[in-house]
Amino acid sequence: MVDSFEKIPVEIYPSAQDGSRYVAEEIARLIREKQQKKEKCVLGMATGGTPIYLDAELVRMHKEEGLSFKNVITFNLDEYYPIEKKAFQSYWSFMHRHLFDHIDIDPANIHIPDGSWPKEDVKKYCAAYEATFEEAGGIDLQILGIGLNGHIGFNEPGSSIISKTRLINLDNTTRIANTYEFENISKVPRLAITMGISTILKAKRILLMGWGQKSAIIARSVDGNVSEHVPASILQQHTDCTFVVD
Ligand code: F6R
Repeated sequence: MVDSFEKIPVEIYPSAQDGSRYVAEEIARLIREKQQKKEKCVLGMATGGTPIYLDAELVRMHKEEGLSFKNVITFNLDEYYPIEKKAFQSYWSFMHRHLFDHIDIDPANIHIPDGSWPKEDVKKYCAAYEATFEEAGGIDLQILGIGLNGHIGFNEPGSSIISKTRLINLDNTTRIANTYEFENISKVPRLAITMGISTILKAKRILLMGWGQKSAIIARSVDGNVSEHVPASILQQHTDCTFVVD
């Protein structure tokens, strides 16, 4: 059901599983459409609790319905900093554990910000990361989750609309929310590499998923004024963005 009174179209599903199936179907349609045209399909990927069912559904589609990811190029939104790729909590590990190890994507087509660069090189590395998806022709479909404070990627409140891929300080609320992935809060990195808001806005299509306890911040993002204090509200300025909620 589309609620056309909101500033961003919102698709409401009875459960996170149902909403995730809807998102997976849109992804699969796009991949197949691009396959028919012999084109690459460029997807922007998110991590965290939100896309768990989506990843599982994509794996199921690959195994049971023969959905191939051979023409897919992926770019992940963010990564903790500093972190080693192989650390259990890294988003590199997350993506391989939940998705990439179970589908037929070419490893050369997987791009995840590398949180192991020395600090003095990170700025250059972020600019290079940003250039890589521009070279790939831009992102066809960007998947997003949303933080309780309205962050998208790790663009915390106050992130500029013109921000690009960069190193950012994580809000304490984000570190608290993500503590479950670590031994305790002191082990949660204080920094992260994230695509910027302007980077995200360049995607041709955006699907933001938000389940359960995210309803208040989703309502604020969809109904409220556009404000850098609520980064997800800036998505009102995108011409092809849909929120998928339960
Ligand atoms: C993760 C990301 C973040 C999360 C957000 C919600 O790649 O970009 O914006 O989507 O923090 O996290 P979960 O899904 O764990 O509630």
